[in-house]
Amino acid sequence: MAIKIRQLEKEDRPALMEILQNTPEFTVDEVVVAEEVIDGSLDKPETSGYFSLAAENEDGVFIGFISYGPVPMTQHAWDIYWLAVKREFQGHGTGAALLKAAEEKIEQAGGRMAFIETSGKEQYDKTRHFYLTNDYKEICNIPDFYAPGDAKVIYQKILG
Ligand SMILES: CC(C)(COP(=O)(O)OP(=O)(O)OC[C@H]1O[C@@H](n2cnc3c(N)ncnc32)[C@H](O)[C@@H]1OP(=O)(O)O)[C@@H](O)C(=O)NCCC(=O)NCCS
Repeated sequence: MAIKIRQLEKEDRPALMEILQNTPEFTVDEVVVAEEVIDGSLDKPETSGYFSLAAENEDGVFIGFISYGPVPMTQHAWDIYWLAVKREFQGHGTGAALLKAAEEKIEQAGGRMAFIETSGKEQYDKTRHFYLTNDYKEICNIPDFYAPGDAKVIYQKILG
């Protein structure tokens, strides 16, 4: 599948919201927070500290996005905030392409390490596998962080 990565545009917002709402891994609360990050990146990327990229397939259909930004009060650390691929297009390299493109942008901006946080719950098994496959290392696991039985797992990749 040919995948094109480009800047996220305001016109992508409805399709992006549809992906968020149809991703079973995301809770209603998470969708609200993700929406704030997306809107920050669309309205004022430089002042909000949120940036987003979009993926489209060979037919020009919007199929995924990634949001990331510098961690305040650090010189080199960046967070990957949200990453999702439309369900029927998952498993064809789009997530990896989005991650790589974001890492390139982060490096160009002087970032030297990227962090991703996710849940330790079983429903995120494939997602955690995806991060390991893309050379992220698990550096921290905080049991019961999100809720009893739901750990926060932090991954790091040194860039460059
Ligand atoms: C996690 C996610 C972004 C990965 O994107 P993707 O385009 O499906 O992944 P890729 O095709 O680039 O990579 C495939 C690898 O990721 C893993 N993977 C993770 N989730 C997957 C899924 N739902 N379907 C298929 N493969 C998935 C596979 O195990 C595969 O590894 P392998 O090559 O060793 O078999 C995407 O599946 C997704 O949107 N998941 C739901 C939302 C989510 O968990 N987002 C991240 C937290 S913010």
